[in-house]
Amino acid sequence: MRKYEDITCLQENRLKQRAYYIPEGEASYIPLNGTWSFDFYDRDDDEAPVKTGTIDVPSCWQCRGYESPYYTNAVYPHPVDPPYVPMDNPMGVYRRSFSVRDLTKKHYLVFEGVSSCLEVYVNGAYAGYSTGSHLQAEFDISQHIKEYDNEITVKVYKWCFGSYLEDQDAFRYNGIFRDVYLLERPEGHIGDIDIRTQGSTIQIRFEGQAEIRLYDEDKALLSCCEAEGSARLEVQNPVLWNAEQPYLYELVFSSRGEVIRQSVGFVTYGVNPRGAFTVNGAEVKLKGVNHHDTHPENGYVLTDEELLRDLRLMKKLNINCIRTSHYPPTPKFLEYCNRLGFYVMLETDLETHGFAMRFAGGTGYDFLGNNQDWIGNQAQWLPAFLDRMQRAYHRDKNHPCIFSWSTGNESGHCNNHYEMLKWLRKTDTRRLLHCEDASRASEHPNPKFREPSYYDRVDIHSRMYTSPQDLEAYAQDETKILPYFLCEYSHAMGNGPGDVADYWEIIYKYPKLMGGCIWEWADHAYLADGVAKYGGDFGELTSDSNFCCDGLVTCDRRLKAGSLNTKYVYQNVSFRLCENQVQVTNLFDFTNLKDFRLEVQVVTDGTAVSTQRLTLDVAPKGSCVISFPMPECCLMSAHVVCRLQNKDGDVIALWEKQLPVQAAEPQLEKEPAAITQTPRSFLICGKDFSYEIGKHTALPVQMEKGGINQLAAPVQMSVWRAPTDNDRTIKNIWGHPNVWEGENYDRIFNHVYSWEQEGNTLTFQGSLAGVGRTPFLRYTLQYLAFADGRLQLSIDAHVRENCTWLPRFGFDFKLNKRCSDFRYYGKGPLENYCDMNAHVTTQWFESDLEREYVPYVNPQEHGNHTGCRRLEIPGGLSFSGRESFELQVSKYTSDALTLARHTDELEENGLMNVRIDYRNSGLGSNSCGPELAEKYRLSEKQFHFTFSMQ
Ligand code: GAL
Ligand code: MG
Repeated sequence: MRKYEDITCLQENRLKQRAYYIPEGEASYIPLNGTWSFDFYDRDDDEAPVKTGTIDVPSCWQCRGYESPYYTNAVYPHPVDPPYVPMDNPMGVYRRSFSVRDLTKKHYLVFEGVSSCLEVYVNGAYAGYSTGSHLQAEFDISQHIKEYDNEITVKVYKWCFGSYLEDQDAFRYNGIFRDVYLLERPEGHIGDIDIRTQGSTIQIRFEGQAEIRLYDEDKALLSCCEAEGSARLEVQNPVLWNAEQPYLYELVFSSRGEVIRQSVGFVTYGVNPRGAFTVNGAEVKLKGVNHHDTHPENGYVLTDEELLRDLRLMKKLNINCIRTSHYPPTPKFLEYCNRLGFYVMLETDLETHGFAMRFAGGTGYDFLGNNQDWIGNQAQWLPAFLDRMQRAYHRDKNHPCIFSWSTGNESGHCNNHYEMLKWLRKTDTRRLLHCEDASRASEHPNPKFREPSYYDRVDIHSRMYTSPQDLEAYAQDETKILPYFLCEYSHAMGNGPGDVADYWEIIYKYPKLMGGCIWEWADHAYLADGVAKYGGDFGELTSDSNFCCDGLVTCDRRLKAGSLNTKYVYQNVSFRLCENQVQVTNLFDFTNLKDFRLEVQVVTDGTAVSTQRLTLDVAPKGSCVISFPMPECCLMSAHVVCRLQNKDGDVIALWEKQLPVQAAEPQLEKEPAAITQTPRSFLICGKDFSYEIGKHTALPVQMEKGGINQLAAPVQMSVWRAPTDNDRTIKNIWGHPNVWEGENYDRIFNHVYSWEQEGNTLTFQGSLAGVGRTPFLRYTLQYLAFADGRLQLSIDAHVRENCTWLPRFGFDFKLNKRCSDFRYYGKGPLENYCDMNAHVTTQWFESDLEREYVPYVNPQEHGNHTGCRRLEIPGGLSFSGRESFELQVSKYTSDALTLARHTDELEENGLMNVRIDYRNSGLGSNSCGPELAEKYRLSEKQFHFTFSMQ
C-alpha cells in the first residue's frame, strides 16, 4: 500500500482548520501564484519525468498540455477497489523559490485547492501532506525556512484514496487549482474565530488576544473592546441581512500588528409551523442554481473577476440561492455571496456515486442495509468523511449567506453520513442540515430502511429531478412535515429547460415547498480552437459524452433562451389578468416595489396603443390592481405587456398576456386563380406568379414569384426535429437507425392516394409513414388558389391511435437564398417553445439566418417561434395564418443538425430553410428530469391546420 492509499493518514502536519481569513496590516501575505517549474511523471515512482517545463499556478495540468482532459459522470475513471488507485499514478512536481523577510515571524503555507493530494517539501525537508481537493490545507513551515532564498516543492498525485470521495460529475482535472500563499505572522497571533449572532448580540469566540472593532456598513465605528478568547458585542436594532438587502457589519480584529476582517450578518434561518423555510421569520422561496467551478480553458480555475461575473449574472437572472455542488467553493466566493446576497447551501467535498456502477449494469443506490461495499458504511472511512465535513464547516462557519450544510452528493446515506450529521447537529443549530440520500432512503418502500426516522437526521426533505406532480403530491401529504427542497431540477442541458414554470406554479402554492436549484449553472466544456469539446473527445476510457454540457449559461457565460426564460419564471413579481385589469403581486420577501418602475402596455398587432409608467408602493407579498383600456379590435392579436425595471433600467420582470380581442376579418382577394392540369401536376398561374403542385406529393414543387423560382426543392411535410438533449431519451422512439421501437419519424414517406380539382380548390388524400412502418398520419390536404397569388393550404390530419407523439408537424420550405433576412410577427426575438416562453413578447421582429442560429454544444433543434401570424421574406414568399402557427428559419436543415455532434461539423446547405408548423412539442428537461408533460406533446390524434402563402 502506498501512503496515498492509506485511509488512516488523512494528513501530516496540516494545521487544524480555522475560519477563513487573510490577515492584513504588518502581517505579510506572500502570494505564491505564478510560474512554477513543473516535472510531469507518468508514474509517481518513475525515475525521470516524461515532460518538464513550467506551469502557471493556479491551473489544472490537463488544461496546460500535461495529459488530456477526461470527463466522466458517475463511473469512476479507475477500478472500484478502495482504497487502492491505479498502479500507474501520474504525478506533477511543482517547484519554485520564495524569499522570507523576517525569520522571527511564524510562516504558514496555505493551499486553497489541490487535486487529488499534495506532499510539500521546504528546502528539501518534508513539511506535510494533505488530502481533500476542495478544502484548505495550511502548514506551519517556520522550522524549515531560512533567510532570503527558499525553495518549495509540491508533489501532486493524480489519484489517492480521496479520489473515491470525489466522484463528482465533472471533468477530472488535477493540479494546484486554487491560490497558494505564505502568511508571515507574529508569534501569538489570532487562530480560529467563531462569530455568531443572536438577537442584537454578536458572540465571538477566538483564539488569541485582540482589540475588536465593530463597524457599520457605512464604516461608522459602533463599538470597540479589548478581548481575550471571547467577546460579546451589542448592536442596537441591528439591520438584518437577507439576500435582497445583504446588510453587513464588519468586525476588525487587531492583534500584534495584524488586522483581520470578518463580515457579520444578522440573519436567522428556520422552518415555521407551516413547514415553510424562513429567513428572519419571513417565508422565503429559494430560486436556486447549482454552481460548479468550471472554465472552458482553465478547468476548475476561476479568477475573482470570473466568480463575481457568475454571481452578478445570477443576480440578473433573479437567482437568490446557490448550492455549491458538490464541494466547497473557493473561500472568496462565499464572501461575495455575503455581499451580493445569495442563500447558500454549502456542500462538502464528497461524492461516491461510482459505487452504484461498480458492477456491470449498475446496482443503483444499494447502500441501504449497511452494504459494506459502500465506503460510507465502513468505519475505517469515518475519519475521512468527518474530516471533510468539519473542515468545510470550520472554514466557512462565519458566513451569513450559508443557510444549510450538505454532507455531499450521491454518496448514499450511510453510517458515516449519519455521524457527519450528528456532528453538525451538535456544532451548529443555526443552519438546516441536508443530505439528499437521507430523503432517498426515507422514501424506500421497505420500512426496514426507513428506521430510525431520517426526519431526525436532516431538516430538509430533498430530492432531485422530481416531477411537478410528485412534488405536489408531497406538498399535499400531511404526514410529510419537512420542507421540500429540489436540490436539483430542470436539467438545463442544451435547448431548455422547458419545465421551470410548471415547478414554480406548484412551489408558490404550498408553503412546504422551499424551491430548489436548477442543474446547473454553466456548461462544462473544453474549448479547443473555439469548438466546445466534451466527454469522449479525448480518448477517455469511460465518459458520459456531453452530459457535462447542461448549464443555464454556456461555458463562456453567454445567455441562452433557457437562461432568460428562467429569469422571468424566477421574477419577483407576478401578474394576473382579470378583465381589463392586471393584478400585480410583490413576490419579494423584503423589498417594496416602490424601488422599481412598472410599465403597463397594451399592444395590438405589434403597436403600443397605451402605455402607463407607474411606481407602486406595494409591500412584500402584497398586491395591487392596475386598469388599462381594453382595445376594441385588432388584425392579428392584442396583448397586455408588463415590464418592471430597476434603477439601472434593467428589466427584472416581464409578462405578456393575450387579450380576448376579436380579430377583424381580413379584406382578402376573393377572385379565384385559374388552375390547369398536366399529367404530373396542377399549375396555378396569375399576374406575376405561377405555382406547381405535384400530384405525387400533394405539395408545391415550384413557386415562381416575380419571375423567380422561390423553391430550391419541393415542399415537404415533416415531423422530425433534430433531437434536443432533452429529447435524448425519446430519440429511439421517434426514430433512430437500427432500433425496433421507433416510428422512424426521421425517414418518412408521403403517399398520395387521390387528387381532385373543383374550381379553384384542389383536394388530396394521402398519408405519411416511417420506413418499415404502417402510416402514422393520414391527411386530407386542400388548397384554395386566388388571383392575387394567395394560396391557402388546409390540412386535416388523423394520427394513428397507437403511435407515439410527434416531435412536431409542419411544412418544410427550402427557399433559394436571395437574402438572409426576414420579418415575422410572433413571439421573439429569441427562440421559444410552448413550454419556454416567459422571456418573449409578440411583435414584429426583423431577423436573419445568423441571428436565428444558436450554437448548442451538441447541435440540435433550435430557433423556434411560437404564436406567429406572419412571415415575410423580402422579395420572396410570405406566409400568414388566421390562427397562430410556429416557425423556424434556419441556415441548417434538421438532418444536418441531427448528424453533427460538434458545432464545427455543421454544414449549411446554402438555402433558407423555413418551417411552417402546426405545432412543435415542448422541451422539458428529460435529459435527466421527468418525461415531457403530456400537455406539451403534440399527441393530438386529429388536428386541422391552415395557413396561406403568397
Ligand atoms: C445528478 C448529479 C449531478 C449531475 C446531474 C446530471 O444526479 O447529482 O452531479 O450529475 O445528475 O447532470
Ligand atoms: Mg453524480
